[in-house]
Amino acid sequence: MDLPRPKLFEFHGVYMTHYFTNNWEEVQNFKARPDDILIATYPKAGTTWVSYILDLICFRETCPEREKSIPVSDRVPFLEFSCPPEPSGTEKTDSLQTFPRIIKTHLPVQFIPKSFWEQNCRIVYVARNAKDNVVSFFHFDQMEKLQPEPGDWSSYLERFKEGKMLYGSWYDHVCGWWEKKQTNSKIHYMFYEDLVENTGREIERLCSFLGLSKSKEEKANIIRSVHFDIMKANPMTNQSDDPSLDFSVSQFLRKGKVGDWRNHFTVAQNEQFDEDYKQKMKNTTLQFRTQI
Ligand code: A3P
Repeated sequence: MDLPRPKLFEFHGVYMTHYFTNNWEEVQNFKARPDDILIATYPKAGTTWVSYILDLICFRETCPEREKSIPVSDRVPFLEFSCPPEPSGTEKTDSLQTFPRIIKTHLPVQFIPKSFWEQNCRIVYVARNAKDNVVSFFHFDQMEKLQPEPGDWSSYLERFKEGKMLYGSWYDHVCGWWEKKQTNSKIHYMFYEDLVENTGREIERLCSFLGLSKSKEEKANIIRSVHFDIMKANPMTNQSDDPSLDFSVSQFLRKGKVGDWRNHFTVAQNEQFDEDYKQKMKNTTLQFRTQI
């Protein structure tokens, strides 16, 4: 796929690219259904991992063939994505035949189409610590040709701190959703680090949030299927069908670790990052772990 890399521009106060604003009217007027499950994340927080987990929780027993034949990106459409002639995220969602529909978004909380709130849909928000998140984003932007040019690591890190990234500021994104969660019991706020630490426990929590119970054996099957190595080898989850990704540059399932930031941040970058982080996060109760 040889499209020119897009430029970032400010859109209602958040940096975006046209692939995620082209279809804005349709996205904002999207008609959610009460049983829709929305998975929301800042990019690179573990969206695909949790999408696949939710899909297996909902469909593994009833539609086992789907696991072998439909890529997770088709099973869980990306709501605001639009890159014609490919069907847009809203079109893909509207054509889903399965119930519940599981839908992915990276939108900050203030951009979520109002029907999700009106229908009182369940929303799973996944957050990842800023340091690993920015490292993962940097590698992804190198391989993803539909993303703006990432430039070098140190300028990328500065842009991240300034919020000049696709979907804007990580700080605003994770805090905005955290604040919303305080008054909305239909939001399950979870952490990438917890998933890495104990995948089974987090799957249990997701099941109870969805009001579903699974046998021990079924849970063990899901835990096995969503292991990093298994997902990396599985063409339905490793994104190898995505023509805009250059796998000679990086991997979509790259490391899957907590703490890889230590291999990227210099001592000085880390100190400056921590100082800036303290300021930006001083008004929130939200806490992250950068190692486990
Ligand atoms: P890394 O680049 O740090 O490896 P998203 O799906 O939101 O784009 O997030 C991608 C990140 O989630 C990548 O992080 C990827 O490796 C990680 N990831 C995906 N599946 C995973 C799994 N089964 N276990 C651990 N990490 C996973």
